[in-house]
Amino acid sequence: MTENDFVPLPYTQEKSEGTIRWKSPSNIALVKYWGKKKHQIPANPSISFTLSAATTTTTVSFKKMDKATKEFSFDFFFEGRPKEDFKPKILAFFERTEDYLPFLKQYQFTIESSNSFPHSSGIASSASSMSALALCLMDLERELNPGISSDFFQKKASFLSRLGSGSACRSISGSLMQWGAHDEIEGSSDLFGISYPYKVHPVYQNYHDTILLVDKGQKQVSSTVGHNLMHDHPYAPTRFAQAHTNLSQLKSIFANGDLTAFIEIVESEALTLHAMMMTSLPYFVLMKPNTLEIINRIWAFREASKKPVCFTLDAGANVHVLYPENEKEPIYGFIQDELLTYCEKGQHICDRIGLGATRV
Ligand code: DP6
Repeated sequence: MTENDFVPLPYTQEKSEGTIRWKSPSNIALVKYWGKKKHQIPANPSISFTLSAATTTTTVSFKKMDKATKEFSFDFFFEGRPKEDFKPKILAFFERTEDYLPFLKQYQFTIESSNSFPHSSGIASSASSMSALALCLMDLERELNPGISSDFFQKKASFLSRLGSGSACRSISGSLMQWGAHDEIEGSSDLFGISYPYKVHPVYQNYHDTILLVDKGQKQVSSTVGHNLMHDHPYAPTRFAQAHTNLSQLKSIFANGDLTAFIEIVESEALTLHAMMMTSLPYFVLMKPNTLEIINRIWAFREASKKPVCFTLDAGANVHVLYPENEKEPIYGFIQDELLTYCEKGQHICDRIGLGATRV
């Protein structure tokens, strides 16, 4: 498929006003997206677990105007209050998606959003918030063009989400989402995420992700800036090739449930992501002392107990602790006994692998 496939045919229906609400989850990448080209095209393919507890719920109310305006017309409320500082992000999203959603300037929108997790938790909400908004707009398009298939709906919702925030395109469905063209993954595309199409061993069902909130402060360097620093990065070509290799290797690891091999790739991906940050120019470090304390504790516990627990990181100091359902008791016990002390006020989110966004 190409971008042109997402430009709609003339709409067949009219819709003067209404309200649409979607709830969309966050996701945690196993193979990381870090580095992008123009128009939100990823420099390498990635794959993630869709989560279920960390979600954004977005309500879009729309009213058709007498005639289309020159500017986009919208108000934005976050947790019940007007939030001006998020409006530029929505405006950028509207600008990037206008060719694919030609009705955008014909409506006045009121967008209301809330998260299931504390806003200042340091949890990236762009994946859940951008995908929830994209799904609401896609739903309006379906009302204007009821003929579209559910497969196309999912693909275009992911395509639009990507234009809002790259990782958001992996939040539409579950439970493993792959984004970015890869030779050995049929149907994979740089334009949208797909549900991973091959065999997945039952050990990954209900996989847990306990998110340890190590640092709730504002990040020093945003993801967007970090992605840009991958241009001219001395290790970028090797890193992008490594992501392809890791995805190839994961194919058999997902099929046969080899958690030792799974852990090796997942932890290596997390540390490589942060190594890329530390070797960018300008260089930066997002891990905090407690991030490293937690990593070392996980390694010591795994060595002593032989339990298949591992960590991953996103672009911040928080640690995602991953483990299978059948080991949840001893591993959550370890988290409580040894790791929560490194979190701000012991705060953490008990999340697990999920099925994707839902209309509410
Ligand atoms: C480290 O999707 O937040 O979480 O496309 O600029 O919005 P933008 O970036 P974003 O980057 C996420 C990076 C990551 C890895 C990942 O989720 O794959």
